[in-house]
Amino acid sequence: MGRPRVLSGVQPTGALHLGNWLGAIRNWVDLQDSHDTFFCVVDLHAITAPHDPARLTDDTLNTAALYLACGMDPERSSIFIQSQVAAHSELCWLLNCVTPLNWLERMIQFKEKAVKQGDNVSVGLLDYPVLMAADILLYDADLVPVGEDQKQHLELARDIAQQRINARFGNENHPVLMVPKPLILKEGARVMSLTDGRSKMSKSDLNEGSRINLLDPPELITKKIKRAKTDPERGLEFANPDRPETDNLLGLYAILSGKGRDAAAQECADMGWGQFKPLLADATVAALEPIQARHRELMADRTELDRVLDNGRDQAESVANETLERVRSAMGFAKRR
Ligand code: AMP
Ligand code: TRP
Repeated sequence: MGRPRVLSGVQPTGALHLGNWLGAIRNWVDLQDSHDTFFCVVDLHAITAPHDPARLTDDTLNTAALYLACGMDPERSSIFIQSQVAAHSELCWLLNCVTPLNWLERMIQFKEKAVKQGDNVSVGLLDYPVLMAADILLYDADLVPVGEDQKQHLELARDIAQQRINARFGNENHPVLMVPKPLILKEGARVMSLTDGRSKMSKSDLNEGSRINLLDPPELITKKIKRAKTDPERGLEFANPDRPETDNLLGLYAILSGKGRDAAAQECADMGWGQFKPLLADATVAALEPIQARHRELMADRTELDRVLDNGRDQAESVANETLERVRSAMGFAKRR
């Protein structure tokens, strides 16, 4: 038995923000020590909403560079671009043909996004979770580290693997696909908006001031934190249901300063906002500084990034093609000769 396998990905739409880092990417980095890790930039998912072709390549490479800058290590992980491994699209089709339509119609994220897109909803948006299932199932992933909002999509991937593929096309001793589990880590699992402590920090929020992007310059970070919503009370604390902003900002400080929740809560218990905000701003700027420096380096000379992504693609392809062949064969397709 090898080490347990992990796969995850982020869409190259909009800039990555603190929520993506603390809720997702940071955890992936730690998993590299103990797991066999695959991380992709899911550019095929990015076109499920209207997109700008002039920006897709840049956004994709920028996101990949941020993976590396955040500590994903190409020596220990396969880092690749989803659309460059054709097996993702092909397995998606095979899964499409066994996935009931009503399973997709009840996906919460689909319903939310469909409302936003109005008349323009594509078949791709409905199919988004099946493509995600293909991403995961191709690598026989044991664990999929994602934020809480992706839990329903993970359940769907499990149901497709178990009920629609293994039950129909495999037998008890030889399951066709591995059934993955979600890995949702508590700390940082939900970073909230700077302008509303009750809603998630999100790429799609129209208000730029609601989020801190990983590539925001220090002055902008300081400005956004200065303007962040607060409340009239003095002193910061966790878990007061009437003070969601306080909980969120103190939580960010605990993680970004590296001090941890207990020490941060103690330090800030009697602090006024005027004293706390510059502290949080400094901690944020300092935490992001090395990521930004590494990102600049990688984007200034593309040689290393290209090499990493070519290698990652080759490694991903060899695993993915093997799984795809297993599914094709179980479903009765003629063997490629
Ligand atoms: P998205 O920005 O929706 O493409 O999400 C990419 C990854 O980051 C997913 O695993 C999300 O669950 C995670 N994520 C996005 N926003 C947040 C947030 N505000 N807090 C924690 N995790 C998040
Ligand atoms: N839907 C995921 C998100 O928005 C992104 C994603 C696509 C993904 N394919 C995946 C995450 C496979 C984990 C595994 O966050």
